[in-house]
Amino acid sequence: MSAPNKSYDPVEVEALKPQEIERMRDEALAAFAAAADLEALREAKAAHMGDRSPLALANREIGALPPQAKAEAGKRVGMARGAVNKALAARQTELEAERDARVLVEEAVDVTLPHDRVPAGARHPLTTLCERIEDVFVAMGYEVAEGPEVEAEWFNFDALNFEPDHPARAMQDTFFVEGKDKKQESGVVLRTHTSPVQVRSMLDREPPVYVVCPGRVYRTDELDATHTPVFHQVELLAIDEGLTMADLKGTIEHMVRSLFGEGLTTRLRPNYFPFTEPSAELDMECYVCRGESVGNPEKACRTCSSEGWIELGGCGMVNPRVLVAAGIDPEKYSGFAFGFGIERMLMFRHNVEDMRDMVEGDVRFTRPFGMEI
Ligand code: PHE
Repeated sequence: MSAPNKSYDPVEVEALKPQEIERMRDEALAAFAAAADLEALREAKAAHMGDRSPLALANREIGALPPQAKAEAGKRVGMARGAVNKALAARQTELEAERDARVLVEEAVDVTLPHDRVPAGARHPLTTLCERIEDVFVAMGYEVAEGPEVEAEWFNFDALNFEPDHPARAMQDTFFVEGKDKKQESGVVLRTHTSPVQVRSMLDREPPVYVVCPGRVYRTDELDATHTPVFHQVELLAIDEGLTMADLKGTIEHMVRSLFGEGLTTRLRPNYFPFTEPSAELDMECYVCRGESVGNPEKACRTCSSEGWIELGGCGMVNPRVLVAAGIDPEKYSGFAFGFGIERMLMFRHNVEDMRDMVEGDVRFTRPFGMEI
């Protein structure tokens, strides 16, 4: 670089002429004033205050001036830059205030406007009915017990005294998850009833045992108006000294009266289950017609098809072989068991005509049963 030129006149340097500096300053001020929003102001700032802006370039020229000229040129450029900076800050404050005011208006929320209500769901009537049944037994001192839905074949069948060739094991009834192979003692199934929980409950506890076992069960039925491959049962098991069929009948009668009305009776019809002996089918007196529809076409009853009785489920005294499988001494203890389907009970208790309505999860079906959440 050459030595400073002694005869250098700042007035003669184009970019540092007073009127040039003034023009640069005025252009900057005009650009800031014209910026309509913060984005435009940012652009104006880059153009008029940035590294390559005319004032910045002029500032750089000062360094090349002879010492005596530097002070005056420096002062001139400095004052111009100061004015530009101040104008920028003022406009910035102004535009920010405008933006804040606009956002307050544009993004305001009217909390008094009506809103779209999302309707609350309703608990499924199967759940509430199950809980109601549990309550009846819990009030009598029973305990609620549960077991797995994917169950060992041993619990679902063998321990319950089903012979290996019992038809209930066959493919048309049972969903097999894993078959029996040479290494395995037991296959795995989706439980076909809640009775395996009887065995689990006895193995888990010392007698006396009083349990109520609600749960989901599976059978290979097609879904139609009266069948569903997944349904619910409630199982009842009582093991104690000296229990008889009379205790069974009295207990069920209490449940029927709690759920359907005072004074209703029950009846037993002989049946067969491998895990109970003797076994019976249990019917309750029709709670709608109380038998008046029988032989009386004028008083026809849809609930019991004018039979006077409604079939509830299977029951019986626990087979001593099941007690032995569960490690209980049949000489000392006896017990009774009862199992029934909740879907069927919901159908006759609430006149549900199609079982498919229960599995579709349509809130229009569940809502009329009550909004208990
Ligand atoms: N587990 C039987 C069924 O699913 C019902 C039952 C339970 C029968 C308890 C007797 C005793 O059909």
